[in-house]
Order: sequence, then C-alpha cells, then structure tokens
Amino acid sequence: MTALDPAFTIRAITDEEFAAYARQVALQFGEGLHDDDIDRYRSIADLDRTFACYEGDTIIGTAENLTFTMGLPGGAPAGCAGLTAVGVHPTRRRRGILTALMRTTLDDAHERGEPFAALYASEAPIYGRFGYGPAAPTVNLAIDRPWGRLRRPAAAVDEIRLVDAEEALATCPAVYDRVQAVTPGMMSRSAALWDYAIGSDLERHRRGFGPRAHAVIDGRGYAFYRIKEGWSENVPDSTLRVVELMATDAEAYAALWQLCLQMDLIAHVEATLRPPDEPLQLAVDDTARLRARVSEPLYLRLVQLDAALTSRSYATADSVVLDVRDAQCPWNDGRWRLETSPDGATCERSAEEPDVTLDTAELATCFLGGVRASVLGRARRIEQHGDGVLQRLDQLFSADPAPWNPSLF
Ligand SMILES: CC(C)(COP(=O)(O)OP(=O)(O)OC[C@H]1O[C@@H](n2cnc3c(N)ncnc32)[C@H](O)[C@@H]1OP(=O)(O)O)[C@@H](O)C(=O)NCCC(=O)NCCS
Repeated sequence: MTALDPAFTIRAITDEEFAAYARQVALQFGEGLHDDDIDRYRSIADLDRTFACYEGDTIIGTAENLTFTMGLPGGAPAGCAGLTAVGVHPTRRRRGILTALMRTTLDDAHERGEPFAALYASEAPIYGRFGYGPAAPTVNLAIDRPWGRLRRPAAAVDEIRLVDAEEALATCPAVYDRVQAVTPGMMSRSAALWDYAIGSDLERHRRGFGPRAHAVIDGRGYAFYRIKEGWSENVPDSTLRVVELMATDAEAYAALWQLCLQMDLIAHVEATLRPPDEPLQLAVDDTARLRARVSEPLYLRLVQLDAALTSRSYATADSVVLDVRDAQCPWNDGRWRLETSPDGATCERSAEEPDVTLDTAELATCFLGGVRASVLGRARRIEQHGDGVLQRLDQLFSADPAPWNPSLF
C-alpha cells in the first residue's frame, strides 16, 4: 500500500479548526458550503473522532467517525463507527493520505471497543482493500399513481395525523428505535442526528421539492415525504418522494404507504434507500408496475472479529473454521472456530484445517445475511474446502428481516 509522505501528519482537529475542516470536506466533494451548514455539521461531529491530514497547518485530507450502534440479527444493537466525510485535496491524491486516514479511523474504533465500522462509498472500488464489504443492499422504488393500489386496502389511514417537525421530533424517534432494535444493519439515531435530519428544512436542500410533510400514526409509524408540483397539458403531474417510512406493525405500514400512493394530484411516487425485502413489492395489486432499482449498499467492516461474530445469533446450529485474511487488523487475521446456534455463538482461535478461506471484507459482506456466501463463492471471492460449506454459511448467516439502513451518513 502507498506509504504516507513524512511531510503529512494526521490528528484530531480542534474546535477552532472545524470551519476550515468543513470547507475542506466540501471542496473535496466539489460541493458548495453555506456558513450555517458548518454549524449543522458541527452539531453531529465528535471532535475527538474528527480527523484531518495536515501539511504544515493546512488541512489536505479529512475523515470522521460518528458514534452509532447497529442493529443485529437476534442480538442487542452493538457499537459501530460510522465513517464519513472521507476525502483528500485534489492536488494531494494517490499519495497515501486516504490509506493513513483509514488506519487512524480503524484504530479509533478499535480502541473504543466498537466491534463494527460502516460507511457509504462514493465509488465501489475504494473500500474493499480496507476490509469493508457491501453488506446491506437497498432498492429505489417508483410507481405511477393509478397503479399504486394495495391488494388489501389499509384501515388505519384514519389514524394518520399530519404534524409539524417539532411534534415529529417528539414522537418519531421512539418508533425508529423500536424498528432499529429488530433490524440488522440499522444505525441508531441520536437526538443530534434527529435534529440534523429534520430540525430544519432549508429550501436549498430540497432539490426542487416542497417542504417536508410528517405523517404520523402515534407510537406505530411515520412517513416523511415531499411533493414536487408539476402540471402537464392541464393535468396534474406532481411527484411525491417518500423521504423515510418506518412502522412497527403491518397495518400502520400499509396505511402510511396507502396515504402516499393514493394522494390526489400526484402522478408519480418514488422512494429511495428502501430495504430489498420491502413488503410493498408484494402488497400492491399490480406488482409489475412497481419498479425497483438496486441502490446504495451499506458497507460493513468487522473491527474486532470475535466480538462481532458473537454479537448476533444464528439461524442454524453449526461449527465452521474460518481462515480470515485481514491485512489492516492483525488481531483478526488467521483461523477462528465459529460455533453458532439460535441462542448465540462462540468464536475462538483455532489451529484446525479451515472449512473456508476468505478476506475480512467478504466475511463482513455476508455477516448480516444480506448477501449469500454461496454467491460470493460463485463470484470467486470465497474459497471453500469441502462441498456444501458455503450453503451452510448461507443458512447460518441468514436473517429476517433483511439488513437495512434507511439513510446515508
Ligand atoms: C477517494 C480518495 C479519498 C482517495 O484518496 P487518496 O489519498 O488518493 O488515496 P490513497 O493514495 O491512500 O490510495 C489508496 C489506494 O486506493 C486506491 N484508490 C484511491 N481512490 C480510488 C478510487 N476512487 N477508485 C479506485 N481506487 C482508488 C489507490 O489507487 C491506492 O491503491 P494502491 O494502494 O494499490 O496504490 C480521493 O480520491 C478523494 O478525495 N476523492 C473525492 C471524494 C471521495 O470520493 N471521497 C470518498 C467518499 S466515500
């Protein structure tokens, strides 16, 4: 791997440096930045996990860990570093700065005892070399309104209330937390992150859509949506975009979708970053009219392999020896015996012959049950030593519901 130029140093930033840091992040992504954005970014950053690469006093690279817990199959949510704001100054690229920042952020998560790290990637080839794999796929959905009828109409629509952002902030986090507790791959959302997400609704963030609406069924679910008004040859041609829809029971779920799908004046309904096992795909009457396109996956990394593998329960009782390659985390590298059961697991160092050899990124990819080990095997990414090992891994890692995280970070 590329070594870091000795003229460059990496450390956590100070509060006084935050504005320069935020401007550098924006520049690296080719984005503009308003002064009030700096305060918004500052409100969710943990300064001692916000790192910069310096050349003298000038920031030339950035990366920060947000503090999350992540939902797990059959286990309590566990610590997960959410890596974000990764970038390098355009004139200092391919000189090892990203590599050094990844070392720093990984060590930061490890020192804090977080078993996991996760991120969203701007480009797919960047993060595999650092042990991250695409573990929780998502889909974008689109349907035109005349076709968005549910096979079984929902009864709970009358219970939906439209509330302002302040009331949404008071009621929706509890619903979110209940869904997170049973959804693998779903990140916790702190009060600061809730405020960041819906505390303000600036026009420049709306991309041509109108203000965010908040539809709530108390204690059971909510849908946040926006409408982009449109008319075409004197007939309504507006688009409703579902920003986030969350429900703790099937009736509330159906009612919230029905509200969005049957809104007068709306011609098109769309939703991004939805789970691959979205029930709507089977709940609409004309299933062929609901278009689903593969969207951004959550990338996962196992920071502390044994803590990660024992933090979830498994669909089957089994015992496998994993030979794991992990170039960045020598404490994970080597052979492990994983004993699984629906009640939990043990994971111990092993000197036995392995059943399977794989890179840590591939193990992370199938860990949440969103991608099957047998498919990775057919893609020549995992090597099994004996027939049927990958199918056993498929079974033991499988999870219901499918792993899903509803928003980018
Ligand atoms: C992506 C980015 C951070 C890489 O930073 P960098 O300092 O140039 O990366 P490094 O020099 O440490 O490169 C590490 C390795 O990753 C590879 N790599 C870097 N960027 C890559 C990319 N976009 N696609 C594929 N490989 C990439 C390098 O070739 C290098 O490989 P090697 O170790 O085999 O030589 C930088 O190009 C950037 O800021 N891009 C724009 C913002 C962005 O996309 N950020 C990521 C947000 S998720």
